[in-house]
Amino acid sequence: MTILVLGATGKTGRRVTSALDALGVANRPVSRRTEVRFDWSDESTWARALDGATAVYLVPPALNLDDAPVAAFVPQAVAAGVRRIVLLSARGISPDDGRERAVYESDVDWTILRPTWFAQNFSEDYFLPEVLAGEVVLPAGGRGAHPFIDARDIADVAVAALTQDGHEGVAYDLSGPEALTFDEAVARIGEVSGRSIRVVEVSAADYTARLVGAGLDPAYAEVLTMSLTAIRGGHDAALSDGVPSVLGHDGRLFGDYVKESAGAWA
Ligand SMILES: NC(=O)c1ccc[n+]([C@@H]2O[C@H](COP(=O)([O-])OP(=O)(O)OC[C@H]3O[C@@H](n4cnc5c(N)ncnc54)[C@H](OP(=O)(O)O)[C@@H]3O)[C@@H](O)[C@H]2O)c1
Repeated sequence: MTILVLGATGKTGRRVTSALDALGVANRPVSRRTEVRFDWSDESTWARALDGATAVYLVPPALNLDDAPVAAFVPQAVAAGVRRIVLLSARGISPDDGRERAVYESDVDWTILRPTWFAQNFSEDYFLPEVLAGEVVLPAGGRGAHPFIDARDIADVAVAALTQDGHEGVAYDLSGPEALTFDEAVARIGEVSGRSIRVVEVSAADYTARLVGAGLDPAYAEVLTMSLTAIRGGHDAALSDGVPSVLGHDGRLFGDYVKESAGAWA
């Protein structure tokens, strides 16, 4: 069994690879920057990545909503001998989403993961530059709450679905164990890092314009804005039961993530 791990330099893929290594499960981590190169926008890189793979952790193309690469990749993976796919999707995704459909309509054992916003966005990705600058600009404002999930819990669920039976044909909604407002989240980071950080609320239109100005695909910018605006309205605070049902614990606490990630804000 060889598990192909896409997005292997990213927040969950890296952790999936580490967990598989720890279990002694053969895996091939790929991205545009790995020894075996995989590029969603260059189909000629797919066959080598898939060679000998029996399962795939599928992280879709980042920062756009183009379904076509996943729809083309899944049949190629099945033809190459892949029998199991675990797809990283997202909370609130449309049931008609083309990436999810490509996976659940395929002739493989599939599992879909629909997580909330990752805690690691504050220390490894989207929010980090603004955390370091002391002002996190959001259409969510500071008041609405959201159950940020630790990427390690997503990776642990993915590894269970990739290596154990019993998760086939299931879509897991995944969240952290507590809902925190952005104000509370940055306050905890401030306590540990000694930084003064505040949340600055902007309108949805201004936020989308900022993302597009930073180079994001406009349709994807709209989706991110909608997702964050839902948090402001308090519509996205509910906890999900995927982590407890698969891992048997409630998930890692945001406060523990903050303590363990302190180096990112030093
Ligand atoms: N972040 C969140 O809070 C969150 C929440 C829910 C769902 N999600 C979903 O999780 C997925 C991952 O998103 P993320 O933004 O958190 O990123 P991420 O997984 O931390 O990083 C993106 C990964 O994809 C790889 N990648 C980017 N462009 C690629 C390309 N053209 N071909 C091959 N690999 C490519 C990157 O590697 P290289 O740069 O090395 O190629 C990196 O390993 C997305 O589908 C997103 O919708 C994210």
